[in-house]
Amino acid sequence: MLTALVLVLCGILAFSPQVVVSKFNTIKFSSIQQCGPFQVTFSGGKAPSALPLTLTVVPFNSTPISIPIPEDAWDATTSTGAAVTFLPLPAGTTFVASLDDADGNPTGLVSDFIGIEGSSNASCLPTTTDTAQRVFNVDETTVSQCSPFNVTYDQAAGVGAPKVRGFVPKGFSLYMNETADSTGVATYTMEALRGIQIALLFDDGQGHRETSSIMPVLGDSESTASCIHVNISAVSSTQDMKTSASSTASAAADTTKTVSRRRFW
Ligand SMILES: *[C@@H]1O[C@H](CO)[C@@H](O)[C@H](O)[C@H]1NC(C)=O
Ligand SMILES: *[C@@H]1O[C@H](CO)[C@@H](O)[C@H](O)[C@H]1NC(C)=O
Ligand SMILES: *[C@@H]1O[C@H](CO)[C@@H](O)[C@H](O)[C@H]1NC(C)=O
Ligand SMILES: *[C@@H]1O[C@H](CO)[C@@H](O)[C@H](O)[C@H]1NC(C)=O
Repeated sequence: MLTALVLVLCGILAFSPQVVVSKFNTIKFSSIQQCGPFQVTFSGGKAPSALPLTLTVVPFNSTPISIPIPEDAWDATTSTGAAVTFLPLPAGTTFVASLDDADGNPTGLVSDFIGIEGSSNASCLPTTTDTAQRVFNVDETTVSQCSPFNVTYDQAAGVGAPKVRGFVPKGFSLYMNETADSTGVATYTMEALRGIQIALLFDDGQGHRETSSIMPVLGDSESTASCIHVNISAVSSTQDMKTSASSTASAAADTTKTVSRRRFW
């Protein structure tokens, strides 16, 4: 029982929830085969004001995919929604997904890890392999609880300092504050607790978008938690939020469903 409570708290505290905008009570992501349909269903709550909804797909160390979801996918009368899409990702790719509003704010938790299963259909895959050099890079050894980390961006190639959004599988997603920026190096604060895994999405707003690999947030008992803005007393007066990947849904997903409603932007 105590262990369960600790797990719940860890789930909540694993990420500063200040930017979580909970609009749907339940979001479910289907499993997926190569070139097969990928379905997201959402219910309860209320559609965000900034529409269309956008499905953000984050394959690791790769290029993110954003898919606008038609507004009629949400039925306000029954408070249910569903959308089906195809992802041009080969079997073996692992990703997480988030259902976002039109401003890029999450409407629920991030999915669990979802792996693309094999199939004989390759018609959705790009015919040319992408050989472009990465334009954003982060040193994984500097990704540490409440510490600054640098993202280098290819200024010479016309790339700007990116907005950086972190995705925690089965957890929160949020934008990291930028604290400095000069000549191709921008500095951000890692607003996540040590021990969790996180993937970063870089977007300079000018068409350059990339994702990092999935990496552990480093740190030790000496690491400050001053960047984590969690109001413990607010955590108990909660609103529900759930997400799951259908193939891997587990009780653990439910333990992370409570979040503080305090402060988001
Ligand atoms: C192959 O995938 C494409 C899109 O990903 C789909 O439209 C098509 O129906 C699939 N073909 C078969 C035989 O399943
Ligand atoms: C980030 O880059 C700045 C300027 O290049 C440097 O002074 C600083 O030590 C770097 N910080 C980290 C965490 O790598
Ligand atoms: C990030 O920026 C927001 C808005 O300026 C501020 O309220 C918040 O405290 C900052 N977070 C950190 C970790 O500095
Ligand atoms: C924390 O949350 C509780 C309950 O929502 C609220 O009464 C209290 O004012 C909050 N404290 C701070 C420092 O925000």
